[in-house]
Amino acid sequence: MSKEIVVSGIRSTGHLHLGNYFGAIQNYVKMQDAYNCFFFVADYHALTTHPDPKELRANVFRVLAENIASGLDPEKVALYAQSDVPETNELYLLLNMLAYVGELEKVPTFKDKLRQHPDNVNAGLLTYPVLMAADILLHKGAKVPVGKDQEQHLEMARNFAHRFNTRYNEEFFPEPQVFRFSDETVKIMSLDGIGKMSKSENVNATIFLSDADDVIRKKMMKAKTDQGPTEPNSVMPDYIQNLFVLLNTVSTPEVNATFRDSFNNCSIRYGDMKKQLAEDMVTFITPIREKAFELQQDHDALRKIMKEGAEKARASASKTIEGARKLVGVNYY
Ligand code: TRP
Repeated sequence: MSKEIVVSGIRSTGHLHLGNYFGAIQNYVKMQDAYNCFFFVADYHALTTHPDPKELRANVFRVLAENIASGLDPEKVALYAQSDVPETNELYLLLNMLAYVGELEKVPTFKDKLRQHPDNVNAGLLTYPVLMAADILLHKGAKVPVGKDQEQHLEMARNFAHRFNTRYNEEFFPEPQVFRFSDETVKIMSLDGIGKMSKSENVNATIFLSDADDVIRKKMMKAKTDQGPTEPNSVMPDYIQNLFVLLNTVSTPEVNATFRDSFNNCSIRYGDMKKQLAEDMVTFITPIREKAFELQQDHDALRKIMKEGAEKARASASKTIEGARKLVGVNYY
C-alpha cells in the first residue's frame, strides 16, 4: 500500500527553540518513515510582512539547517523552499477563484493582523489561507501536522478542496485533516512561567537551539521557582511542572525520579535541580547547535539538499496541476 501523504510548512522567521523542537520537529522526525512527507520552508508566506531580503534568505538557510540538525532526513522526506515549487503559484491562482473575500476577512488570524498592522493589510495577507491550501493540495496531502493556531486555516483548505471537487470532479482533492500527535506532544512553557515558550515573547525565558552553553545555563538558572512545597505530595505549580517536563525530555529517568521524590517529601532544592537540568540541556542541545552551525557554513550543501527536495516536490506538484488545468478547462494541447 502506498504511504499516506503528509504536508507541512515551516515558518522562516526567528530561531528555533525548545518549544518548536518538542512541539513540531520531533514529530516530523517520527513521521518520516511511515509517511510520504513534504516539508518546506514557507518563504512566500513570510513576504506578507515585507522582510529584509538578505535576512529572509539567511533565515531560510538557517531554518533548513536547524531542521536537518534536529533529525529531519532529506533522503527520507522532500525538504524544500516553497518558492522553488512554482506550481504552488498556479494552484494558488486557481483556488483564489473559489475563495470568497467575505470568508477570508472573517479569519481570526487575518483580523489580528488587521489590528496589529492596519497600515499593511495587503491582499497576500488576506489570501494567506489560500496559499496554505495550495501548498497542501498541490501534493494531495491527507494529513497536516500543525498547531492549534493553524487549525482554522486547515478547515479553509478543506472547504476549498470541497468546493473545487463539487464544481469540477468529486474525487480530485482529498480533504486534508489535522495530524494529531495526541498525548505524545510535549508542551513547553516559557521559563518565566508565562505562557508558551516563544520566539517573540521573553527571549530570556526561551531556550533556542542556537544558544551557546553558558547562555543555556544562565537561562535555566533564572527559571521561575518558589520556596518549595511545605506539605508532602503537594500539587505542583505549572512552572515547576514545566521543569519536570524538561527533565523528562533531556535527563535520565533516574534523575527525574530522584527530584520527583524530593519534591514529594519537601526536600527539593530547586537550585540543584536547575543545575542538573542545565547540564543535561547543554548535552542535549550542543550536538544540534554544532551540526546546524556546520551546515550553515556550507550553503552549497544546503542548496543541493533543497534543490533535490524541490525536484521531488515538483514531480508530485506537476501531476496535480496537469489534472487541475484539465478539469478547469485551461489546457489546449
Ligand atoms: N501557516 C503555517 C504557520 O504559520 C505555515 C504553513 C504554510 C503551513 N503553509 C503550510 C503549515 C501548509 C502546514 C501546511 O505555521
